[in-house]
Amino acid sequence: MYGMVNKAVEEMVCMHHGEPVWEQIKARAGVDVDVFMTNEGYPDEMTYRLVAAASEVLDVPAAGILEAFGEHWVLHTARNAYGGLLSAAGRTLPEFLGNLPDFHSRVAMIYPNLQPPRFECTEVTDTSLRLHYHTHRPGLAPFVIGLVQGLGKMYGTPVTVQLVESRERGAPHDVFDLRWSATAAP
Ligand code: HEM
Repeated sequence: MYGMVNKAVEEMVCMHHGEPVWEQIKARAGVDVDVFMTNEGYPDEMTYRLVAAASEVLDVPAAGILEAFGEHWVLHTARNAYGGLLSAAGRTLPEFLGNLPDFHSRVAMIYPNLQPPRFECTEVTDTSLRLHYHTHRPGLAPFVIGLVQGLGKMYGTPVTVQLVESRERGAPHDVFDLRWSATAAP
């Protein structure tokens, strides 16, 4: 994955726990990188090791780390560095979600080696939809939950996210049920 991902994990940990804790997490993960380069590729496995080490050092389940990271990604990383991309994708939560399937193709114009997830929206109503999440990477459903909750906060539209079909439980891909209040509908 592009270095921006590891960099954002670092930023989140340092913001809440300080740099010495981040150094401890990196050492535990066996990651010997001083500065992650946003535009360079790093093995996915490195990111998984950092999440596992953060889980051990902070004594929070890996799912909790990934969920917090999803929120952080939207509310800090994306907002600060890619605000234009975010705001172009929607004025409301439902509008943004409707554009999510095309979102990473815009990101890929800047980062051509991107291996993005694929999203699909079905059963769309004014206040709910089913979000289908396709990826070759395992274990990232909690990250998606955090991302959607971060989007809800960004738009001031509280949203509930429930994993209703899970790849870990044998489904072909993860499916989330998303619900928000009617006032958010465009
Ligand atoms: C401007 C905002 C965003 C940027 C720049 C961005 C960029 C990226 C990058 C660089 C990766 C790593 C993949 C790679 O390097 O090959 C990634 C992965 C991912 N992104 Fe985004 N993204 C953004 C917003 C979002 C949003 C809003 C969502 C969903 C609600 C999302 C969902 C994901 C997921 C789930 C992954 C994990 C990889 C996978 O599932 O295979 N991203 N994104």
